[in-house]
Amino acid sequence: MQFDDQLIKRLREAQHVVFFSGAGASAESGVPTFRDSHNSFWVDFDAGTFATASGYYANPDRVWQWYAEQRLKLRALTPNPAHRVIAAWQNKASNVTVITQNIDGFHQRAGNHKVIELHGNIGTYKCFDHGHPAEHDANISDEKPPHCQQCGGLLRPDVVWFSEELPAEAFTQAKHSSANCDVFVSIGCSLEVYPASTLPINAAHGGAYLVQVNPHATLLDEIADCNLRGKAGEIMPLLWQAVWREQLP
Ligand code: OAD
Repeated sequence: MQFDDQLIKRLREAQHVVFFSGAGASAESGVPTFRDSHNSFWVDFDAGTFATASGYYANPDRVWQWYAEQRLKLRALTPNPAHRVIAAWQNKASNVTVITQNIDGFHQRAGNHKVIELHGNIGTYKCFDHGHPAEHDANISDEKPPHCQQCGGLLRPDVVWFSEELPAEAFTQAKHSSANCDVFVSIGCSLEVYPASTLPINAAHGGAYLVQVNPHATLLDEIADCNLRGKAGEIMPLLWQAVWREQLP
């Protein structure tokens, strides 16, 4: 693949790069995306039951068990080359921010030491009533949600469900990084989910060079400085080579 000279120059000279990932970044790990999949992974995904507070309230055991099953499935999958490139980039360059909408934890498993998770993480918990964070415990039951050690309420997965706000601190950090970066790379995002979809726009307003990696057109096409059409797991290693002229560690 031949990359635009301007893209390579911008990435090489950037003081601050933001990588912003969506479901497409994990597609090649075997996790189907939300909006373009007919795959079996989410086939039993009934959003009203499994992604709303009222669904949980109506049947906490069933929702808890479903998340335990998804965690097991994710554990059997592995990060793909796109995750590995983003991890290597954060370890090589001085100021790289990783923002993700994904709850799968693949960036961390690939080696990223700091990730801003906008939609939470399927591997962590908080209490339903007050949001007290709960430590992961290997003995935690997959059958029934345990009780919060601080208030006695039920624990729930620490993920953002429909009509819930994004974690305030994570979103504040994400907005700040986006508005102040030199290059913003959106990878595998449909940009159809608000408010995460505002981040590339913040970046463009802040003067960042906007890059998109996606096999399909999105709402970002028109304002992106560079649209890299293709799969993240294929394009990202090529981009690494072109910018750093060295093997991926
Ligand atoms: P979507 O499922 O909306 O979009 C996935 C995007 O990835 C699409 O634009 C695809 O074209 C692209 N894509 C597919 N395969 C790809 C590949 N191999 N490489 C690169 N891109 C690829 O996923 P998100 O934009 O992440 O929210 O959706 C955002 C949110 O929608 C999710 O975080 C979730 C859901 O509601 C919550 O859970 C709160």
